[in-house]
Amino acid sequence: MKPINQTQISFSSNSVNEGYARAAVAAFLSQLDPTVADLSDVRTAVSEAVTNAIVHGYRDRLGTVYISVKIYEDGHAQVRVRDKGCGIPDVKQAMEPLFTTGGEERAGLGFAVMQSFCDSVRVSSTVGKGTSVTLIKRFTPKC
Ligand SMILES: Nc1ncnc2c1ncn2[C@@H]1O[C@H](COP(=O)(O)OP(=O)(O)OP(=O)(O)O)[C@@H](O)[C@H]1O
Ligand SMILES: [Mg+2]
Repeated sequence: MKPINQTQISFSSNSVNEGYARAAVAAFLSQLDPTVADLSDVRTAVSEAVTNAIVHGYRDRLGTVYISVKIYEDGHAQVRVRDKGCGIPDVKQAMEPLFTTGGEERAGLGFAVMQSFCDSVRVSSTVGKGTSVTLIKRFTPKC
């Protein structure tokens, strides 16, 4: 299926840019006239994925985070958050609730949050090359 509209942004992995990323994705998706709840779900999921890229992917250095957003005719959206950071050695394990390499500061719930707020979450990662998280959200039509 071809998207009917798409955009891309990229930004430095400073945590101050999390808010920018969330707002930019939400602004683009607002053309779908989403419900407040749906938009809030996407904002939360994007926030988790971007935080992961910044704190885990680029944990020891600054890098660039890339986001692409695609909108499809049937009203669903795909948001892909990519980093070129350290990568994840075992994606299945990383996606298990409560698994974290972030120590006491982290709950290990980011992927679980993404999964509960989106219709699908796919992760592909290569150690030393980076990580790509693809979120799919179907928007509830307003009646
Ligand atoms: N982009 C990434 N690059 C490298 N490792 C990642 C990335 N995203 C997630 N991970 C790994 O997957 C683990 C689980 O991520 P998840 O978001 O579920 O929990 P967390 O970030 O550790 O804690 P929380 O999100 O609750 O603060 C992380 O601790 C980290 O080891
Ligand atoms: Mg996280």
